[in-house]
Amino acid sequence: MRAGLSTLPDTAEELAYELLAPLGNRWRHTAGVAARAAQLAEPLEIDRDVLVAAAWLHDIGYAERTVATGFHPLDGARHLERLAWPSAIVGLVAQHSGARFVAAARGLAEELAAYPDDGGLFSDALTYADQTVGPDGRRVTTGRRHEEMLRRHGPASWNALVDHVRLPHLRAVADRVEQRLALAGVRG
Ligand SMILES: [Fe+2]
Repeated sequence: MRAGLSTLPDTAEELAYELLAPLGNRWRHTAGVAARAAQLAEPLEIDRDVLVAAAWLHDIGYAERTVATGFHPLDGARHLERLAWPSAIVGLVAQHSGARFVAAARGLAEELAAYPDDGGLFSDALTYADQTVGPDGRRVTTGRRHEEMLRRHGPASWNALVDHVRLPHLRAVADRVEQRLALAGVRG
């Protein structure tokens, strides 16, 4: 940790860097999602520090040091809980991008439900940021992101198995965020 006063996003970035930088693309994706979150906070009128910190941390469950169940939203949330991160951020990490659908299929619904999110704009904004940044950190449309995700994870993956329920959820999130952005005069 840096000397002096670190903001929540700075501290989150440092932790994410420590855990994810060795993973290459996962780090590039994370940095892209954090940048995207920073753009979205103002037009969505939500706390930038909380959203950007959650974006830096949302995929830390992929880091070797955090892996326990192999389900990254849960492993990431548990790691953050052990480090005493604010529960709002832990919940956002646990629930990002429709994690509950995959958790249900994997028999981890109860474990994940221990980390609720706000179920509102913060969750929508983090999911939207994640779903509009590709694995290499570049901006993509939600449609391309979905196609690429299914290709990368494969037809036998948990993600593919729950796609029929998770995709409508992700689309509804994108619609809600884009409507709000349009009201604020910003394109999604
Ligand atoms: Fe992600």
